[in-house]
Amino acid sequence: MIIQYPADLLAQVKAATAGRHLTGFTPGQGPRHPELMLIGEAPGRHEEKVNIPFSGASGQELMKLVESIGYSRQTVYITSVVRQRPYSIKQVRDKQSGKLVKKTPNRTPTKSEVRAFAPLFDWELHYVDPQVLVPLGNTALQRLLGPKANIGQLHGHLITAPIQEADPTGKGYRLSQHQYRIFPMYHPAAILYARRLQPTVEADWQRLGRFMQKLHC
Ligand code: URA
Repeated sequence: MIIQYPADLLAQVKAATAGRHLTGFTPGQGPRHPELMLIGEAPGRHEEKVNIPFSGASGQELMKLVESIGYSRQTVYITSVVRQRPYSIKQVRDKQSGKLVKKTPNRTPTKSEVRAFAPLFDWELHYVDPQVLVPLGNTALQRLLGPKANIGQLHGHLITAPIQEADPTGKGYRLSQHQYRIFPMYHPAAILYARRLQPTVEADWQRLGRFMQKLHC
């Protein structure tokens, strides 16, 4: 299922992100009421092109991990805390022609960009209603648990806690009434940058698999 976001929330996000270096729009994807909701940072260039979350190189790593514990792209819900590709603008010299060319590489979204998308993410979370939230990397983790949360410390373990939701005054966050089950994981791109993390990441996913089995006994 490709999610249809409410038009008023899309308009709110558009107004809050006007003039920012953000492009495309990749909606979340997957069933409602899933066991797992995987939460990334923001779409990259491949996702922007095909409009499917985690469909590029880090998506391939992610799917191997998802499948290693018996789930598939069809059975989990996949989204990101920012739904547009954040880019920076760089002038680089083309090696062949020697001319300056404009490049727009991906970048990490800023905290205020994450906040601009917060009402949309909050709505999506309530609508999808997953059993367990799996933030992938620091950007998603800190969106849920605040700026002090660190993936290096929290990866691979269950946390049961309220999460941040957009404060209705329009600025910042407040804590949710509801307690969520949160199982933080390294972002799959971390494996691509540092292969030494692979055994840790695989062990974290196995721990999640065992937790999900226990949850359903
Ligand atoms: N990284 C993310 O966080 N999300 C995507 O969809 C792709 C890469």
